[in-house]
Amino acid sequence: MCGIVGVVGKSARDLILNGLTNLEYRGYDSAGMYLNDLAGHEYLVKAVGRISNLKEKLTPEQQGLVGIGHTRWATHGKPTVDNAHPHFDETKRFYLVHNGVIENYLELKEKYLQGVTFKSETDTEVVVQLISKLARENNLDGFSAFKKALKLVKGSYAFLLVDNTQPDHVYIAKNKSPMMLGLGNGFNIIASDAISVLDQTKTFVDLQDGDVGDITKDGYTIENLDGEKVTREPHVLDIDPNAASKGTYEFYMLKEIDEQPGVMRRLSQDYLDENGEPLVDQKIVDAVANADRIYIFAAGTSYHAGLVGKDLFEKYTGIPTEVGYASEAGYHFPIMSKRPLFIFLSQSGETADSRVVLKEANKRGITSLTMTNVEGSTLSREADFTMLLKAGPEIAVASTKAYTAQIALQAILAKAVGEKLANQDAKDFDLKHQLALAAEGIQEIVDGKERFAELAKKYLIASRNAFYIGRGIDHAVALEGALKLKEVSYIQTEGFAAAELKHGTISLIEDGTPVIALINDPVTADLTRGNIQEVTSRGASVITIVGKQFAKENDDVVLPDLNYYLSPLLTVVPTQLLAYYASKEKGLDVDKPRNLAKSVTVE
Ligand code: F6R
Repeated sequence: MCGIVGVVGKSARDLILNGLTNLEYRGYDSAGMYLNDLAGHEYLVKAVGRISNLKEKLTPEQQGLVGIGHTRWATHGKPTVDNAHPHFDETKRFYLVHNGVIENYLELKEKYLQGVTFKSETDTEVVVQLISKLARENNLDGFSAFKKALKLVKGSYAFLLVDNTQPDHVYIAKNKSPMMLGLGNGFNIIASDAISVLDQTKTFVDLQDGDVGDITKDGYTIENLDGEKVTREPHVLDIDPNAASKGTYEFYMLKEIDEQPGVMRRLSQDYLDENGEPLVDQKIVDAVANADRIYIFAAGTSYHAGLVGKDLFEKYTGIPTEVGYASEAGYHFPIMSKRPLFIFLSQSGETADSRVVLKEANKRGITSLTMTNVEGSTLSREADFTMLLKAGPEIAVASTKAYTAQIALQAILAKAVGEKLANQDAKDFDLKHQLALAAEGIQEIVDGKERFAELAKKYLIASRNAFYIGRGIDHAVALEGALKLKEVSYIQTEGFAAAELKHGTISLIEDGTPVIALINDPVTADLTRGNIQEVTSRGASVITIVGKQFAKENDDVVLPDLNYYLSPLLTVVPTQLLAYYASKEKGLDVDKPRNLAKSVTVE
């Protein structure tokens, strides 16, 4: 949520614009930047809406050798120019951008800032006014005032601060919100994530919670809040910058849907040997095998992948598995078994709701594993173990390839643990072959993608609402299909256990209401057909997405054969494509649906 970029020592305006554009997936309500040319000129430019609006507002002479920029996902205060970052103090000496939420901003305002005139409704402005007040009252330089203010601030933050009396420095601080320092030759660059500035450098310093830093063009110092110097070693990030580019695609979402066969192959290659035996860190296998209960915590799409994971773990390891919304578990902790093991599923590795649960787990000494797409992310660092999704950067706000990667990775772990526990189903699970079939099957579906553009046009785009129904593992996919369709097309869509509609919601079915039925469950396939009849006879327009072995003559989409527990890897793809085309046909910004942000770092 919110993206920040700071530059010292190089054409700040262009680097910030570029970095913010790459970070736009983190929020796009408004944007702004502060520039200082180190020759006595400074500029503050802000705009409501996308980075392109900010770009239009900037004039050619507004350049800088130092600058800080921000793209916002509003928490406190509406998306207006005044509420856009950077924020500044009354004396216009300090400029601050912030990603996070200051919990005690009202208290700080009341206690320290009586009589100060505020321009915005934001929590961030309270911090910059506080820094200024502390600097004036105690006659402090900017960095000292910043550190003094940080001791009073409670909440999550990645801060970039410029003091225009010493404008060749950017001061930084991090707590619970992501921030990386990129090292260049004669310049340094700070950003919410490394991918956004990969075209400038591949050498990064991972900042940790509690770090406070002073960045100049030739160097950096980092200390903790008590003023003690800390060492953070740089490392080289081995990511292909092209992996984060759109190439010839109009939208990232379609590119990422299309990449799924490759993701399946990579996971198979990296986590299974040539005989199909899992290559999973033995310590992880032992830890999971020792558990008497697995608890999976996640949010949104990752939670839906967890629902599939539950079936996989129970089938192949025999260990009872529960799945919970991280946002609920954080404050209503479930009753624990004797030897629990927690798995956190998170594409970004930054989701604040999940982090609350992980912190509590750490406090209680519960062993934890994070499955994430982002190496070095907060949830990865703070858990005992990490398994990487290896899906490549996911930029579209709507998650697609991370979901299928999460399912495949859970299957790999389930097989590894099940084999250790001598589970016969795990031994017989020909996962390498199944992942190869999944890759081929996804390829077949995406090769015929025009089909889904037609279906979306015919059944979905004119509709106010829609339903996904399915039983067993298809119910989990119905929830994900519904989330995907509603988040990118704004068609109100609900996912239902197929038989549940008749217990109330069927009253919403009218002539032409789209109902998308998923059938892969051998036990209930016929029963779901019955549920299709119930809605058809009430006027619904039904689209059927059906595994080959259950297909009937008039089914709309027939999926290639795959193991039932992995069938979501295929079933979900038509749902992703329907969502994509519904959004595109409606002329919406597929990659950046309104009100959303990619990584949700507030609770
Ligand atoms: C929906 C979507 C979200 C995320 C959720 C958790 O398409 O992407 O529902 O799945 O915000 O994010 P991560 O997986 O980064 O923890």
